[in-house]
Amino acid sequence: MIEFILNGQPVSTDLPADTPLLWAIRDGFGLSGTKYGCGMGLCGACTVHLEGNAVRSCSTPLSAVAGKQVGTIESLGEARVGAAVQAAWQKLDVVQCGYCQSGQIMSAVALLRANPKPDDGDIDAAMGGNLCRCATYVRIRAAIHEAARSLA
Ligand code: FES
Ligand code: FES
Repeated sequence: MIEFILNGQPVSTDLPADTPLLWAIRDGFGLSGTKYGCGMGLCGACTVHLEGNAVRSCSTPLSAVAGKQVGTIESLGEARVGAAVQAAWQKLDVVQCGYCQSGQIMSAVALLRANPKPDDGDIDAAMGGNLCRCATYVRIRAAIHEAARSLA
C-alpha cells in the first residue's frame, strides 16, 4: 500500500508501485482534470504538483510520491496563486480546446510560486515543456504576467 497526501487529504492505494501517478489520480481517485497526452513526459498535459514542483504524472511512478504532497488542478483554486492564475486565464480567455490547459496552469502556478515576477524568458523556460496544439502560447504568457500583476 502506498500512502500520500492528495489535494490536502491523506489517501492510500493498493495499485502497484510502478503505476504512473496519472492513472492513480484519474482511475484510482476519479480526478479527471489531469490529462493524458503523450504518456512519455513530452507534452505536459499530465502536469501536477509534487511537493509544490511541477512534475509529469505520466512518468512519475506511485513509489515516488509515498509520504509526499501531490496537488492537482481540482484543488488549485483554493490557494492564492492558483486562484490568481485561474482568474487571469479567464480574464484573457486563454483556453481554446482546453485539453492542455490544466497542465499549463499547473506549470504556471509552480513558476509564479518560485518566481513571482517572471520575465518573458523565465516564462518560456518554465513553460517550454507544456505543448499546446491550439497554439495559445501568446495568451498563456500574457495571462502569467496578468496573474503576477494581480498578486503583486
Ligand atoms: S502525458 Fe505526460 S507529458 Fe504528455
Ligand atoms: S488549448 Fe487546445 S491543446 Fe492547448
